Amino acid sequence: VKHLHISDELSLSLDAITQKFAFIARSGAGKTYAASKLTEEMLDAGAQVVVLDVVGTWFGLRLAADGKGEGIPIPIFGGEHGDVPLAPHHGALVADAIIDRTLSVVLDVSGFTGGELRRFATDFAERFFHRKKTHRSAVHLVLEEAQVLVPQRVMKGEERMLGAFEKLCKLGRNYGIGYTLISQRPQAVHKDVLSQTEALFVLQTNGAHERKALEQWIVEQSGDKKLVDELPGLPVGTAYVWSPQWLRIFRKVKIAPKRTLNASATPTFGATAKATGELAPVDLEALRSAMATAVAEAEKDDPKTLRKRIAELEAKLAKAPVGPPQVKIERVEVIPNVVRNVLSIKAEKLQGAAHRLRELPDYLDEIASALLACVRETPAGDPKAKTPYPTNGHAVVAPAKAPRQAPMRPSTRENVASADADGDLGKGERATLTAIAQHANGVTRAQLTVLTGYKRSTRNTYLQRLGAWRLIVERGSRFVATDAGVAELGADFEPLPTGDALRTHVLGSLPEGERTILQVLVDAYPDAVDREAISEATTYTRSSRNTYIQRLGARELVEVAGDGVKASPMLFDA
Ligand SMILES: Nc1ncnc2c1ncn2[C@@H]1O[C@H](COP(=O)(O)OP(=O)(O)O)[C@@H](O)[C@H]1O
Ligand SMILES: [Mg+2]
Repeated sequence: VKHLHISDELSLSLDAITQKFAFIARSGAGKTYAASKLTEEMLDAGAQVVVLDVVGTWFGLRLAADGKGEGIPIPIFGGEHGDVPLAPHHGALVADAIIDRTLSVVLDVSGFTGGELRRFATDFAERFFHRKKTHRSAVHLVLEEAQVLVPQRVMKGEERMLGAFEKLCKLGRNYGIGYTLISQRPQAVHKDVLSQTEALFVLQTNGAHERKALEQWIVEQSGDKKLVDELPGLPVGTAYVWSPQWLRIFRKVKIAPKRTLNASATPTFGATAKATGELAPVDLEALRSAMATAVAEAEKDDPKTLRKRIAELEAKLAKAPVGPPQVKIERVEVIPNVVRNVLSIKAEKLQGAAHRLRELPDYLDEIASALLACVRETPAGDPKAKTPYPTNGHAVVAPAKAPRQAPMRPSTRENVASADADGDLGKGERATLTAIAQHANGVTRAQLTVLTGYKRSTRNTYLQRLGAWRLIVERGSRFVATDAGVAELGADFEPLPTGDALRTHVLGSLPEGERTILQVLVDAYPDAVDREAISEATTYTRSSRNTYIQRLGARELVEVAGDGVKASPMLFDA
């Protein structure tokens, strides 16, 4: 029976393929070396291994240890040494190909940006797990820099990726999935996933946070946490292996030499970091035909292939004498992929924007609150006051006998058609300003409609002009007259009807339904009247009654509190 010879002190049975490994150590201590030793042994035993390589060093499996001879014929997707290019949107496609063909493969995603990696890894993990449910064969996944794929602290946008890998790691065993996590920061790998580890390889580790995270794992496995104190002293390439359940060992082992290139070696002066030898040939032709879709997709999106294709098409186009139908067909084949790439980038940006938009309501609410606070700090006047209210320059009531001041004549007014020829306010502006100046607390747009009888659009035009001339200002939802506004009206301005006269005026201007109900409420004032009682008094059906009340409410002619409705005190202001 074949065994996985990892060290002279440790051989593993083929069970290892579906087991859960973690390799933890500081940078340079030999994690990748040890994990790729394990990978070599698995591949040599004929196992299926898939490496998700965010670092870009696993292509070394294809070369002999000296960097010249042939290594293991495992295909490489993506990266500088890739046999086949890899695009961020190929995650699901590649998972399908790997499962359909039982491929061992290195997925070099080291060239992806954070967002691209997230997209690829998420799609890959989701599809891989889903497909494995019906393809129960042993496969081992190697996750380099596991804290990137299975983070303990999830950033916005990483939730789906973490979810996918968590599921893969926790439930994958049922479908034949084993895995190896490699990380120099165990505390940054999701706890629930790290705690699943069946065989922990710890090499030299000195960081306090790192050792604390390991201590936790060891204590959970009821081991002796004092062992953690030995970790800083371990030589490169030596590991403590803990496997309390599966192997029932705790052992110090020296990882055996690999037969393939360790491409992560720090380049030394004079030595080329890049491999000089030929990569071991892989059966690319068979691969290509079996993965027709995947490869075609990948190649079409490869910039080099695309540029070549575009050049070909341009050449064809230049030669074509008239509208070339065959070129059109070619374009249908190629352009959608280009467009799709652009769209996918835009879509990701849009997603980001959508996230930010979701925060907009909170932001608007904050601004609204600040504005309201501002309004509340503004002193309110006593509506019954007969003398000017002490104003700080804010709200004022019309002074009964204020000295007439020179009217304000901002230059903009000269252009306003509705202004009188002699420069005085137009009738509409005057009526609107008068209604506003009469109410020290200001009036709402709805109230103005009642007070002046103007239509909404007309009313808004007047308000806008008065505002532009600084004769009124808007505070919250109410308008108040400025000092200049009051001065403009003059001391002897004729107030619009209030009190009895206003009620008569308003009642006369309302449609029948609203008028009838308001009359009931005016008669009962200052008491509120129950809706039921209103129905009895008016014989309106419940729904028309409520509609009328709602319309009266919109004009602020009534106040509604629960079932009680009351005429607005505004109608009783003297
Ligand atoms: N078991 C080993 N046998 C021989 N050399 C090793 C061994 N482990 C590590 N090394 C050396 O240490 C270097 C760093 O190891 P590596 O696995 O890349 O570190 P890590 O992944 O922990 O950052 C390797 O390039 C290799 O030269
Ligand atoms: Mg490494």
